Amino acid sequence: MSTAPPPAVSLSGRRVLVLGAALLPLSQDPLTGAHVELGGLDRLIGVGAADADLIIIDADAWDGPGMAAGIQALTLAAAPPPVLLVGTHLPTSVVRNLLRLERSDVLDAPYSSDNIAAAINGLMVEKAPPAPVPVQGGHAARCWAVSGAVGGSGATTLAIEIATQLCARQAKPKSVCLIDLNLADGSAAAYLGSTPAMRLGDLTAAAARLDAAMLQAFVTPVTDRLDLLAAARDPGAFDAVPREAILRMLEMACETYDWVILDMPRHRRSWSLDVLGGCDEILVVSELTVPALLAARSLSDEIERDMGSGEKPKIVLNRVAARMFGPAPSFAEAERALQRKAEGGVSSDWEAAAASVNLGGPIATHRPKSKIVKDVQSLVDKLAAQPARGHATKAA
Ligand SMILES: Nc1ncnc2c1ncn2[C@@H]1O[C@H](COP(=O)(O)OP(=O)(O)OP(=O)(O)O)[C@@H](O)[C@H]1O
Ligand SMILES: [Mg+2]
Repeated sequence: MSTAPPPAVSLSGRRVLVLGAALLPLSQDPLTGAHVELGGLDRLIGVGAADADLIIIDADAWDGPGMAAGIQALTLAAAPPPVLLVGTHLPTSVVRNLLRLERSDVLDAPYSSDNIAAAINGLMVEKAPPAPVPVQGGHAARCWAVSGAVGGSGATTLAIEIATQLCARQAKPKSVCLIDLNLADGSAAAYLGSTPAMRLGDLTAAAARLDAAMLQAFVTPVTDRLDLLAAARDPGAFDAVPREAILRMLEMACETYDWVILDMPRHRRSWSLDVLGGCDEILVVSELTVPALLAARSLSDEIERDMGSGEKPKIVLNRVAARMFGPAPSFAEAERALQRKAEGGVSSDWEAAAASVNLGGPIATHRPKSKIVKDVQSLVDKLAAQPARGHATKAA
């Protein structure tokens, strides 16, 4: 099938950053009418759409390490302008890095001004937003989201234990992925004694081209079966990472693993409903206090209402005490406050929970006899027995 050439794009009034004085004659043709600025490699640090509409770099004007650092800076920029690299000696590593950018092209000398015009044209044509990549028919994980009704209700603890229980049922290495979507201050990595490896700047820069192989650069292996996707603390993280990057990352995770467990932030983000809409199960974790139960009911109702799919989150009661008397509501009282049945309950065992986070790792590893482990096992048995609802993270 042949493709029609892209329509000619006018550069009149557009800002073009040119790196290399030898390229200045281009301002006559094909950059006629453009505002051409001559700059150095340092201009590539943090460059964005507000700085230039197009960047043209003469590879022959700069030494190899300088070029490599400049291109690296571009790949780390949040939304770099399109880049055209021209030259006679184009180092492979530099070219490979450059091609990770969403809009980039390379012209090896000798080239004519027509070649340059065609390359610029190809780069400047407005791209339609990427079509959602359907995962139907391909591999798709079963995806469960875990969200706390109130802070500290045990969402991270249960997400880790659920992921660990699922690992115990898998024969294949790297079959389960736990993703900590509390981007600003998630604690899953700390609880597991692991080092977070998801660099959010790199994720943002690579989002449009993120594939299953690239995803592995962001992953921390926890065991042979469990991988973790988590970022280091960053108070600005939620504002810095665009929705598309989160959805793409989740989509790739769902293509890679058999099971994906999400530790969800309690407060809604721009991507929360998309993410929840792609999950097979949504678990709302509540503790047995009246405010937590009321919050669990509200959170669950809000999710159900706003997703509009008829899917209901399931409520899991955590830190259920053995004694049936005292100030805490009983299981039955809790269900009355929730106005629905809870999906399951997880016993309280502070010693086991504290020991495991202090040692770094799941409760199932450090305190395998804890009631928490048995209760999570029953919960996972019940949930896993239900048919998968659909496919996770349909990127919108
Ligand atoms: N069943 C349990 N029994 C005893 N302690 C528990 C239990 N579940 C969780 N904990 C403890 O409760 C505390 C809060 O748990 P966790 O961090 O998992 O909650 P969270 O909902 O993820 O909190 P945040 O709102 O900060 O994300 C931790 O110290 C954890 O070890
Ligand atoms: Mg948490």
